[in-house]
Amino acid sequence: MKASLEDIVSLAKRRGFIFQGSEIYGGLAGTYDFGPMGVELLNNIKRAWWKANVYDKENYYGLDSAMFKHPRTWEASGHTKGFSDPLAECKECNTRIRVDKELSALDVVADEKMTLTEINSLFDSNRDKIVCPKCGKKNFTEVRAFNLLVKSNLGDFTSDGSDPVYLPGEACQGIYLNFKNVVDAMHPKIPFGVAQIGKAFRNEISPRNFLFRTREFEQADTQMFIRPNENKIPYEAIKQDRWNWYVSVLGIAEEKLRWKQHDNLVFYAKDAWDIEYEFPTGFDEIEGIHDRTDYDLTQHQEFSGVDLRYIDPETTEKYIPWILETSMGVGRVFLAVMCDAYREDQLGGESRTYLALAPHLAPYRVAVFPLLKNKPELVAKAREVYLALKKQGIAATFDDNGNIGKRYRRQDEIGTPSCVTIDFDTLGETEALKDTVTLRDRDSGSQERVSIAELASRLS
Ligand code: GAP
Repeated sequence: MKASLEDIVSLAKRRGFIFQGSEIYGGLAGTYDFGPMGVELLNNIKRAWWKANVYDKENYYGLDSAMFKHPRTWEASGHTKGFSDPLAECKECNTRIRVDKELSALDVVADEKMTLTEINSLFDSNRDKIVCPKCGKKNFTEVRAFNLLVKSNLGDFTSDGSDPVYLPGEACQGIYLNFKNVVDAMHPKIPFGVAQIGKAFRNEISPRNFLFRTREFEQADTQMFIRPNENKIPYEAIKQDRWNWYVSVLGIAEEKLRWKQHDNLVFYAKDAWDIEYEFPTGFDEIEGIHDRTDYDLTQHQEFSGVDLRYIDPETTEKYIPWILETSMGVGRVFLAVMCDAYREDQLGGESRTYLALAPHLAPYRVAVFPLLKNKPELVAKAREVYLALKKQGIAATFDDNGNIGKRYRRQDEIGTPSCVTIDFDTLGETEALKDTVTLRDRDSGSQERVSIAELASRLS
């Protein structure tokens, strides 16, 4: 069954995964909040990523750098000059459009890395087909480069050449700023990697498709530092490693993933591949894997005046390491996981919606119910089982609202893999079944009788 983006947005709101940012004030475009169920799924995705990229690797270190960075950072990185999207403005109502996306929608090959001359010429030959999304007119300005960096009001604004502190346009710069600190503190041997999950902010011209293009988002990045020119083999290995993670750890259907190599490269990359997922709106990027060469450390060495060369401990050779980057959009992967898990089927003659999330990603591993809410002895036993599971570190929830059928539907929609029901047999009505419960499987709806003593091991 193919879900539409509207199906996902509706379930996400209804069940407390995602809310529009600042909704009570009418919303703030390009921002979203993760609700009680969303934050659990989000944290589980990030935990699985951290495990694979820090704990399961021998030579990777974690980092959490400050978001505010010295203003020189973004000059050295090239973002103050080269980090822009092509924008045209409606002369009638001032609505801004992102020209490469409008052209792509007409099947004209265009992207944000084209020169202004190239994109203006394409735009001119298609002006008659592009209408303003607000007023419907076709009266646009010329295309200009619109810088995506978001300024803060921190910094020095006293002179003409004001010196703002920007919010991070990409999270990875914090890793480059700390390269020397990590080397001095940890004495890693090249090749080694640094992993970080951090926020990025972009003044996107047209945020779109729910969590797909937002103005504030998280990136989970690894930067692998390697010897110059020794990029080919590790680059291929990293690509494979990331692909495998989506399939074997997140459980994403492999046929929903594909590779896309960039023809037009962003200013810092020598080679760039995207992993794309087939969203309801079509295939689009969830992660970028970039061969950044010595670009970043050379730039920061030049702008900071600090020697960022690595000294080989055995040969004492000095060099600027090359960098291989993996950069995953956490919100986009969250959306991909929800789309991939979304199912509609018939169970017991009724239609239902459920999320077939892998147990380690689901907000709750198990829900515990008393068969009836108005029987104190059932409620007491159910709470006892629920608290015991929580004590054993299992993400459990308790639900006694509505009838059992309604509770199952609710848990199915948030992707809870198992439900446990405490009934009169649990209390000993049938002697042979005393201290057993029904354990119900989300995907098949099948139920079995399991003793309370073996519940925790079955669930973990
Ligand atoms: N440091 C490299 C870098 O930032 P990127 O391709 O611009 O590369 C990496 O971004 C990932 O961040 C993308 O693959 C995407 O998943 C995510 N991303 C980029 N812009 C985004 C946006 N406006 N909203 C949500 N996610 C975004």
